[in-house]
Amino acid sequence: MRIPIIAGNWKMNLGQVGEAVQFVRQIRPGLSEIEAVDVVLCPPFTVLATLSEILAPSKIGLGAQTMHWEQGGAHTGEISGGMLAELCQFVILGHSERRASTPVFESDEAIRKRIGAAFACGLTPIVCVGENQEQFKAGQTDAIVSGQVEKAVSDLEQGQVERMIIAYEPIWAIGTGEAATPADANRVIGLTIRRVIADVFGESVAQAVRIQYGGSVNESNIHEFMAMPDIDGALVGGASLKPGFVDLVRNAA
Ligand code: PGA
Repeated sequence: MRIPIIAGNWKMNLGQVGEAVQFVRQIRPGLSEIEAVDVVLCPPFTVLATLSEILAPSKIGLGAQTMHWEQGGAHTGEISGGMLAELCQFVILGHSERRASTPVFESDEAIRKRIGAAFACGLTPIVCVGENQEQFKAGQTDAIVSGQVEKAVSDLEQGQVERMIIAYEPIWAIGTGEAATPADANRVIGLTIRRVIADVFGESVAQAVRIQYGGSVNESNIHEFMAMPDIDGALVGGASLKPGFVDLVRNAA
């Protein structure tokens, strides 16, 4: 049985200690009452330390939004998995805003290295994959997504794949208010992503890994995604920054 998991990706928002603490105090009581789904908050680095103390007594998880693959050294501005592991349990890797946008531009290879390093540090990666609008229109979704998943898992052991979380996020659905249809998202997750994993690691691993949908998920549409057999929760951007996030998680449960 896969336990659904809802993760809130705050992106570059609520990164000042006062605002982050105020928001978490507001949503924590409601989130703590919800048993049936796992919840993870992924705020900016600047508030991880403070929130790790506030969230420690609860079962709400905490995650970062990226990390470097090296443990340390001359990498100005970067943060390693070891630094994060003291503060949180999860790390989002390969988000499309980091794959595609300057000045970041992360390659599949850089993401693969980050995933391995995250596991080595005891973190659970939430690995994002998804096609852009042009690729979607050209019918290349399955090819793009399988390529990304193949590269992401290429160095991993079976037990790591079972523990990792994958987020299928069509780029054209992120922040646009135009979510994928639940049936389409379910098809990509069930037939494309789980098949790639089954081909490499076998069917039982493919059935064990938790795969979220992400892209314009909100409290009104979450239940349609949760009703799909292959979708195990959501990676939520904009709707995770408002008190309504509690209703979103409740509706998911
Ligand atoms: P959105 O973002 O929910 O605001 O569309 C999702 C994401 O980028 O993970």
